[in-house]
Parts: sequence; C-alpha cells; structure tokens
Amino acid sequence: MTTIKLKIRLYGDPCLRKKSIPVPEVGPPERALIQSMMATMHEHKGIGLAAPQVCIHQRIFVADIGEGPLAFVNPKIIRYFGSGVLEEGCLSIPGVTVMVRRPEKIVVRYLDEHNQPVEKACEALLARVIQHETDHLDGRLIVDYAGFKERIKLRKQLKAIQESQEMQ
Ligand code: NI
Repeated sequence: MTTIKLKIRLYGDPCLRKKSIPVPEVGPPERALIQSMMATMHEHKGIGLAAPQVCIHQRIFVADIGEGPLAFVNPKIIRYFGSGVLEEGCLSIPGVTVMVRRPEKIVVRYLDEHNQPVEKACEALLARVIQHETDHLDGRLIVDYAGFKERIKLRKQLKAIQESQEMQ
C-alpha cells in the first residue's frame, strides 16, 4: 500500500470549517487514506488526525495515544459520562492550547478499517481525542471553546497562523 504524504491544513483554511459526510463503506481507497493519515499523524507526533485536517471531507479520523493506532469511520458518540477540563492542542493550530471542558467517559460507535462495526467504551485521554477529532468532522475547533478573555489572548497567535497559512 502506498502511503501518500498529506498536507495538514492550518487555522484559517476553510477546509477546517466544512462538515464531513459519512462514508458508505470502508474499502481499499478508505484504507489507503487511513494509512496515509496515520503516517502523517505520526510524522507530526500527533495523537489524533481527522480527514478535514488534510482537506478530505469524509467522516474518518485516526488516533494513537501510545497504545497503537486506531481508525474511526463514521464515529457516533452514543453515551457521555462525567465532565472534566483539560488542556488541548491541535496539529492545525500549532503552539495554541485551550482549556476544554468535556465528558470524561464516552461510548462510541464506529466502523474500523476493516468495515467492522465497533462499540467501545473509552475514558481519559482516548475519550478526549475521540471527542476532539469528532469535532473536526463537524468543522469545530478547540478555539471555539475558548472563553472571551482566552480568545483575546489567542488573537495574535491565531492571526500569525492564519497569515502563514495564506502565504503557503
Ligand atoms: Ni485537532
């Protein structure tokens, strides 16, 4: 399988705000994309990467919190438990972190890279990543969670990322 190098889109790129559509079936083209996304995520030392971050608007993301790579297709979070605040970063918004409140435990339903339906209960970091990446599929970013004061503080940083993105 050939792994294609994918370009990660940065804050300000309209690709990041577009909603992704469900995948009818996980076949060879989707598996190739998953492979390339995993390679791209690992290359950038990320723990998650969603398809819209490489400007592909299919409901696919990959994650690896150090326990091996996982692929999630058409993820749907069906149950939520608890709530906690944690600092999150994003490969599309380098250098920026935002404190985000999210449920701590979730149950997610998805297709894996072999088109098999999976239902998985997750907590801690993996539950975080799954929610963060699912947000990407709906065009939502961590900066959207920033409060008014935090947003003002981030303004300069975001502007710099946006400008570097526009020059590419
Ligand atoms: Ni992200």
